[in-house]
Parts: sequence; structure tokens; C-alpha cells
Amino acid sequence: MSGKVVDRSTDRSGIFAGDDPFQMVRDWMEVAAATEPNDPHAASLATVDAAGRPNVRIILLKEIEDAAFVFYSNYDSAKGQEILGSGHAALCLHWKTTLRQVRIRGTVTKEDGPQADAYYASRPLGSRYGAIASRQSRPLTSRDELIERLESTKLQLTDEPSRPEYWGGFRIVPFEIEFWANGEFRLHDRFRWYRETPDAPWDVTRLNP
Ligand SMILES: Cc1cc2nc3c(=O)[nH]c(=O)nc-3n(C[C@H](O)[C@H](O)[C@H](O)COP(=O)(O)O)c2cc1C
Repeated sequence: MSGKVVDRSTDRSGIFAGDDPFQMVRDWMEVAAATEPNDPHAASLATVDAAGRPNVRIILLKEIEDAAFVFYSNYDSAKGQEILGSGHAALCLHWKTTLRQVRIRGTVTKEDGPQADAYYASRPLGSRYGAIASRQSRPLTSRDELIERLESTKLQLTDEPSRPEYWGGFRIVPFEIEFWANGEFRLHDRFRWYRETPDAPWDVTRLNP
């Protein structure tokens, strides 16, 4: 990440302090992990289809890298096709117990190399078979059809199945990250981090609630 931050506010401090927004997201998630009943890394993922119609669903944010966010899915799913079509996506993390929100907008590329292989291999065997058997987001006549495909997948494969080429990671490189924390009487605190390109310095602006 670029070390340079242009801060347009005069009072950024406390939970909003720092010059690395990726570390800040990690820190906020770690705080939430102590109190959230489950899935502190769950995020809403927004995409648009070819007609510009928005779509949204939950995913699990698996990796926060030095300059990107990575999650895993089926490339042929609705979200997969929408991301590959537009090249963009947005994430929204919300923690009810800490009353904080993080919004992320960015460009997206596939992570379908060794990193995706390693993550796939780290999953429980049942989940690995499931990822192979599910034609995510396409019509299914009955649950039995899915179970039959799962069983025949297991018969055909070893205990170390390879990652299917239609399943892997998506890497979001953000141009915008917004940190939001609840304030009394809806006077919330918001700081928007924006940069035109991954090499540009972050421009940080405090926003009205
Ligand atoms: C808590 C939670 C976590 C989920 N995590 C993922 C995930 O990491 N990847 C994924 O493909 N779907 C995940 N799903 C399922 C998606 O919300 C969605 O139903 C599925 O991916 C199909 O979406 P699509 O038709 O828009 O592609 C998760 C759902 C929930 C409720």
C-alpha cells in the first residue's frame, strides 16, 4: 500500500486513526470477532448485471491482503458472471455488536492460482466435494438431484480432489473504503478513503452522517 495519506479532516483519531485502511479493517474485524455470535467476516457483496440491475448477497471475506480483499465462490454463479462482466463489486461489512460498518468498492479480478488451490485444499472434504457438485445459481429439479451428483462426484474422486476450474477466488482492489461508527442521535462518524489508482495516495475525507 502507498504510505502516503492526504487527510482532509482535522480530527481523525481513536478507532479511525491510522494510515493503512487494510489494517484498520483487520482491526475492526478482530474487535467484532470478540462479540459477534458468528461470522464476523460475513459481508454483503453487491454486483450489477449486464443491464445495470443491482444484486446483493452475503459472502465470507476470507483474506485481507496488503492491498486487496479476497473471497471465494463459483465463477459460473450469478455473482461470478456479474463480476466477470462488469469487473467491479462492492462489499459491506456490518457488525451489530460494535455498531460499525465498512464499505468497500473496487475492481475485481480472479484469484485462480496457487492461492486458490491452497484455500480450497484447506476446506473440509465435504465442502470441497460440495463446491464440485454444486452448479451454483443454476436451476435444480430437486434436492435429490444434487445429492445424487454429490454421491457420484465422491465416487469419481479421491480424498484429495483438485479445485475445479469453475470455483476460486475473487480479489477486490478497492478505490474506496468507508469506515462508519455509530454516534449518538444519529450523529455518526464517517471517513471515506479514496484513491484513483492503487499507486495513488489515499485521500481521506470526513463525511456528514
Ligand atoms: C453467512 C453466509 C456466508 C456465505 N458465504 C458465501 C461465500 O463465501 N461464497 C459463496 O459463493 N456464497 C456464500 N454464501 C451464499 C450466498 O449468499 C449466495 O446464496 C450464493 O453464493 C449464490 O449467490 P448468487 O446467485 O448471487 O451467485 C453465503 C451465505 C451466507 C448466509
